[in-house]
Amino acid sequence: MSRHYQHDIVIIGAGAAGLTLALELADKHSVAILTKTDIREGSTLYAQGGVAAVLSDTDTIDSHINDTIDAGVELGDPEAIRFTVEHSKESIDWLVDQGVPFTRYGEGEEYHLTKEGGHSHRRIIHSADATGLAISKTLIKNATDHPNIDFYPDRVAVDIVTTKKLGLSGKNRAVGVYALNQEDDVIEAFHGQFISLACGGSSKVYLYTSNPDTASGDGIAMAWRAGCRVGNMEFNQFHPTCLYDAKAKTFLISEAVRGEGGKLLLPDGTRFMSKFDPRAELAPRDIVARAIDHEMKRLGINHVLLDISHKDEDFIKEHFPTIYKRCLEYGHDMTKGPIPVVPAAHYTCGGVVVDKHSATDIDNLYAIGETAYTGLHGANRLASNSLLECIVFARSAANHIAKHDNKHETVTIPDWDESKVTNSDEDVVITHNWQELRRFMWDYVGIVRTDKRLLRAKHRVDLLLSEIQEFYANYKVSNDLLELRNLAMVADLIIRSAMSRKESRGLHFTLDYPNKQEPSSPTILSPNKAS
Ligand code: FAD
Ligand code: SIN
Repeated sequence: MSRHYQHDIVIIGAGAAGLTLALELADKHSVAILTKTDIREGSTLYAQGGVAAVLSDTDTIDSHINDTIDAGVELGDPEAIRFTVEHSKESIDWLVDQGVPFTRYGEGEEYHLTKEGGHSHRRIIHSADATGLAISKTLIKNATDHPNIDFYPDRVAVDIVTTKKLGLSGKNRAVGVYALNQEDDVIEAFHGQFISLACGGSSKVYLYTSNPDTASGDGIAMAWRAGCRVGNMEFNQFHPTCLYDAKAKTFLISEAVRGEGGKLLLPDGTRFMSKFDPRAELAPRDIVARAIDHEMKRLGINHVLLDISHKDEDFIKEHFPTIYKRCLEYGHDMTKGPIPVVPAAHYTCGGVVVDKHSATDIDNLYAIGETAYTGLHGANRLASNSLLECIVFARSAANHIAKHDNKHETVTIPDWDESKVTNSDEDVVITHNWQELRRFMWDYVGIVRTDKRLLRAKHRVDLLLSEIQEFYANYKVSNDLLELRNLAMVADLIIRSAMSRKESRGLHFTLDYPNKQEPSSPTILSPNKAS
């Protein structure tokens, strides 16, 4: 039997996006926040560089807008970009009011602003090199202290419940969520007047990623199954510099290291970025990641080097305390010499199509943060625009919900039906398919693509999807099965979007169409037209 819970708002995810929405609504609404594992785990916790915003007197809204359009290779939505940038300062003020301790020059002094690739001004506000930790800690504390917010950790949301799925007449709307309680394997039903997906991105679809395990594209897959469109899924961002060390898995080395003077070098000590872009190490990420990939393939090397050791030792330790310590744990002293780095999947630029209120195609269903496609990033995200988007669009969703919270008639959600499934006797199918999927996505749908590679990937994902569907229909669900089902669905969306783009733009680079095509438009896929 399912357990049932009733709240005004059900939010799936406790990253920057989910927590902001919860805190903005909790004074007048009861809020449930579901998280897959521990409430802190998610990309927000690991964010290093900071949050982009127009904060300095020498910077302008237009300059931030132009940098965002430029990084996104003119595919971003001008309205969404303007909306985000115009709300950047008030979003930072909101974070400051919440108590986020951003770094200042000294006691009582101005906030320190750092620089990252693609930005023509210093505009990244940060908490040393652990900005996400500071945001996460502060917002989680405020949310746990709030009497109207209930956390439900270890709940894996399975699917959104809509009136259409329940066979009810009238306009389709979201009414709840089924979630697997990982403590006792019971599927619970969470009823809400409004549901918000804040599940983060899907970079775990690739073998090597800077992201934590939560980034399995669950929000995008759930929205797609519920009937929402998705946009720009071919644009997955690869961060140029993750530490290359088997023990470190993929620990990120913030772009701020390059922003503060770090240089990229080949093993013989030659600088190479200026061959690829006049902005050298501070070109947008797609350009830097592709240049590194090119040099690694050309020279047959496993990594390149990042060197900031020419800077004063105290400067490095003060600006990058977390990165310095972590590198040292793995035997790399960044104050003394270069460290080995490689690109890894980092950020999902596409996602669930939403408007500027974060509303999806289904009434009362919202999508915020990395799960959403707002139009901000275009073909490539400008560094540190993601946390900004989380805050701006979560607050916008909160305003919209507050204005439309006339209570709907409560709908009865039936218990989860397990009458036709049994316990799996072959979990090896899940682990095998999991590895295969992430490996072929890395090899065939990575930094450099071709028609042939995409077609190979498409054949494989089709096979996996049918095997996974059969498994899902016959066996009880587990977190691994749910994640695999979602990853395969997201992989399929990425491949189909990539196949449909007959040009190279931003993060989508294909040897078969190496140039941009004009005009160009976002790739929007609709489940109602799915092949
Ligand atoms: P997340 O913070 O990823 O949170 C996702 C939440 O959803 C988690 O609580 C998870 O448990 C929950 N969840 C997922 N699936 C389910 C499910 N099925 N059921 C229940 N719960 C679920 N961006 C910047 O702007 N600046 C930076 O400096 C920066 N640095 C970064 C460094 C690293 C190492 C990484 C990985 C990312 C960085 N980014 C940065 C990107 C940015 O951190 C993320 O895009 C952003 O934090 C996403 O926030 P979110 O709220 O959308 O999701
Ligand atoms: C970084 O610190 O390099 C990450 C910034 C981002 O992903 O926006």
